[in-house]
Formats: sequence, structure tokens, C-alpha cells
Amino acid sequence: MPGLPFTPEIASATEALRQKVAHVVPSLEWAVHAPYIAAINALKRERNAVVLAHNYMTPEIFHCVADFVGDSLQLARLAAKTDAAVIVQAGVHFMAETSKVLSPEKTVLIPDPDAGCSLAASITAADVRALKTKHPGLPVVTYVNTSAAVKAESDVCCTSSNARAVVEDIAREWGVDTVVMIPDEFLAQNVAQQTPVKIVTWKGHCEVHERFTAADIRDFRAGNPGVVVMAHPECPPDVVAASDFAGSTSGMIDFVGAKRPKKVVLVTECSMSDNVAVEFPDTEFVRPCNLCPHMKRITLPKILHALETMTVEVTVDPAIAARAKKSVERMLAVPVTKARHAA
Ligand code: 13P
Ligand code: SF4
Repeated sequence: MPGLPFTPEIASATEALRQKVAHVVPSLEWAVHAPYIAAINALKRERNAVVLAHNYMTPEIFHCVADFVGDSLQLARLAAKTDAAVIVQAGVHFMAETSKVLSPEKTVLIPDPDAGCSLAASITAADVRALKTKHPGLPVVTYVNTSAAVKAESDVCCTSSNARAVVEDIAREWGVDTVVMIPDEFLAQNVAQQTPVKIVTWKGHCEVHERFTAADIRDFRAGNPGVVVMAHPECPPDVVAASDFAGSTSGMIDFVGAKRPKKVVLVTECSMSDNVAVEFPDTEFVRPCNLCPHMKRITLPKILHALETMTVEVTVDPAIAARAKKSVERMLAVPVTKARHAA
């Protein structure tokens, strides 16, 4: 199907955005993106809609149509707060479900319902019930990268930016020294290194982060003397141990903003470096990275289509949503970082 025409009016209306992302979006591509950006931004106002975009969205989404950007925790907090009638979730399905759980009265749209997640696919509600039978009396801490049905069986959720705080908080509340933490084995092992609380793990992995190795980190350092290495805690523990900093996607952005390193490598999904490079042009980004095929399903034409047709609407069974909401709200009660408004 041919794309939308790039007229002189659209070129002039989107010029400020073009300049903002010129560093990371080639000019030939801009002619393709700009008509969609203009159409989405106009239709958002008509529909009283906001676009919540995860840090792994491509820069033309992240910087040009998103109203709010952030990591999983920040997006969950924003979904709970926004007054808009419609949320377009530029992210994967579990994020849209979390928005719906927190805002059942809002219309939540996902531009591609097949945008899944290998972690969410690794565990079912029945698996969690079996774990609870096997470990009676232990709280279940569930990474937000899971279905609403799994969250409904859990005691509290966590994200990569609050995992340790949540584990310690729930262990204190329950008066136990051990928790069950699902489904990301590596995140659980990385948290276990930072806390005296013992953790029972599950064998789920992120298909993007599990591919990085400690040998990769040695190669980045050998090829780039002085480079600062930052890794997402979904990476294997030996990768995190070999890095200079580990944190959520927003944790990495904040670290670059605070320290302004000359050269960094973000051991995570590919779009992160592009998005952060727009904000910090003086930092050089070494770019070996892995693509998340699920996040990359979200494109400008699909966002426009979602707003035009008001599809695909994400729904959650109200009984499951009510129980899942308790787990998410229990997490949101643990204090953490502030949200970022798209600039
Ligand atoms: P963050 O919460 O760090 O943004 O992570 C979400 C995710 O899917 C990482 O792979
Ligand atoms: Fe899931 Fe990994 Fe993709 Fe994040 S990057 S959505 S954890 S598969």
C-alpha cells in the first residue's frame, strides 16, 4: 500500500520535529514518517487520546507522536493518572493490559495485538497456582512483563526499576526471609545479589537480553577503551557483573543524563541508543544491540490505523482485572522515580 503524501504543508508543520531527530532519522525516511506524524498528532486531539510510548519505540514514535515516554513502571503510573479518554499503548501487550487494569473506564488501544513478550509467554496463571501450592506462605512477586491473569494470582508486581525495593517491602510485610519471584530468572538472580532476601526463581527469559554474554562486554571494552557499559537487569548475571551500571531503561537514560559519559554502550534493545542520542548529542553510543521483534511491531502507520478505527481495543475480564489491580497497586505504593513527560 502506498504511504501518505509528503506535501510542503506537512514538511513545514513537522519541521521542528525533523530537526529534533535529524541526528538519528535519515532525511529520506523523514519524508515517509512526517505525513503519519502530522495525521496522528491531529487525530489524537480529536479523539482525546494520548500515546504512551515505551523507551524501546523507534525515535519517530518516541520523539514525534508520544505524549508520555518511560520505562514499564513510569508508563503504569501514567496510565493510572491521565485524564485522556483513550490510551494508545506504543509498547507490547502486557503494557496495554496493565493500562486497562489501572484505568478500566478508558479505551486502551494497541496498534498491533501480536506485540507479545517472551517473558509474558513463559508463565500461565495455572503455573502460578502450582508454585503457590509448592511454596505455601511465601509471597509471589511478579514482574510486570506478564499477563493480567498471572498478575491476578500474584501478591505484588515489580518492574526492573523497583524490583529490589518491592522484594524487601513484601518480605518485611509478610515477615518472611524468602519470596517467589517470577518469571524472569535473570532479573531474580540479579536482585538476589543485592538483598539478603532469598528468592525462588522461574525459568523465564527475555529473548532480547538473554543473548548478551560476558564475552560481548569484554569485546566492547577492548574495542572502545574507556567506554561506560550499562546493562538491563534482564541480562544474565555475569553480563550485569561485567558492566559498570545496571538499571531499567529509564535508569540508563538518567545515568547518561547525570554522568554525561563520552562513550557508552547500552546493553539492551536497539532503539534505546537512538532515543537517548537525541537528548545527549555529545555522548557517543557504541551500538551493538539486539532488536525486540515484539516492540518493533509498533509503527506509525499502525498507530494511525488504531486511532482511525479505534482498534484493537484491549479488554481484561473485570474479575481478573480487579485482582490484578491489587498486585499493581501494591507495587505502586512502594516509592520510586518520577515519570518523564515527552519533550
Ligand atoms: P523497563 O521496565 O526497564 O522499561 O523494561 C521493560 C522491558 O520490556 C525490557 O525488556
Ligand atoms: Fe519482552 Fe524482552 Fe521484548 Fe522487553 S525486550 S518486551 S522483555 S521480549
